[in-house]
Amino acid sequence: MVRFVNIYVVRQLRKTLCKLTDRKEMKIFIEIERLILREILPIDEKGLFELDSNPNVHTYLGNNPVENIDQIREVIKMIRQQYIDNGIGRWAIIDKQTNDFIGWTGLKFETETINNHKKYYDLGYRLIEKYWGKGIATETTKATLKYAFVELNLIEIYAICDIGNIASKNVLEKTGLKIIETFELDGIKHHWFRISKDEWTEIQKQNAHQR
Ligand SMILES: CC(C)(COP(=O)(O)OP(=O)(O)OC[C@H]1O[C@@H](n2cnc3c(N)ncnc32)[C@H](O)[C@@H]1OP(=O)(O)O)[C@@H](O)C(=O)NCCC(=O)NCCS
Repeated sequence: MVRFVNIYVVRQLRKTLCKLTDRKEMKIFIEIERLILREILPIDEKGLFELDSNPNVHTYLGNNPVENIDQIREVIKMIRQQYIDNGIGRWAIIDKQTNDFIGWTGLKFETETINNHKKYYDLGYRLIEKYWGKGIATETTKATLKYAFVELNLIEIYAICDIGNIASKNVLEKTGLKIIETFELDGIKHHWFRISKDEWTEIQKQNAHQR
């Protein structure tokens, strides 16, 4: 009996310790009122599969949703490698109350050439469909821009979206990015957006003035 109790206690302790260690090792970049933006982890595979297997999510992303969990595991590996290689990559958006995975947002250091640009910081986001229309992309984009210009001291950020993607265009315009031009990506017209640190700083001043 004593031995059984001891084994039980040790198991419980180990579980608690694991949870604590996980939490300690989990890198949280931004905390806002209802959300946390943290590194993407292997535990996000279920949420990412729900996100990326939905054809509606991929309407303006080339209409190529994933078909199996292995594809998601590769994506997670790739993003975590970007953290190491580039010091930055997309972050998971987590509901603070429920701990649910909502989608991803944040910056990617783009190493491929897109619209004649290479080695720039790209802002992006993708949410599970049930979370659309709640202001989450706008809220997390604002927080990401602040992090980019204040914490990382970046000079400029770019973003692209399919010209038909009105929701995304709204998010970018509402948060201060401006359309510089329109270009073709894989045969589809896209907007090319940009915001500089100076422009962002000016918007913060105006907002503070209006308050
Ligand atoms: C694009 C996306 C991230 C927007 O996220 P969201 O959290 O729903 O956006 P918000 O709630 O912050 O809303 C942004 C604005 O667009 C508007 N909007 C949302 N969906 C819209 C739609 N389908 N058509 C027109 N306007 C829309 C909102 O009303 C809001 O404007 P408002 O504040 O003036 O009312 C989300 O739709 C998504 O994940 N889509 C699939 C993936 C994707 O397209 N990613 C972007 C690639 S560029």
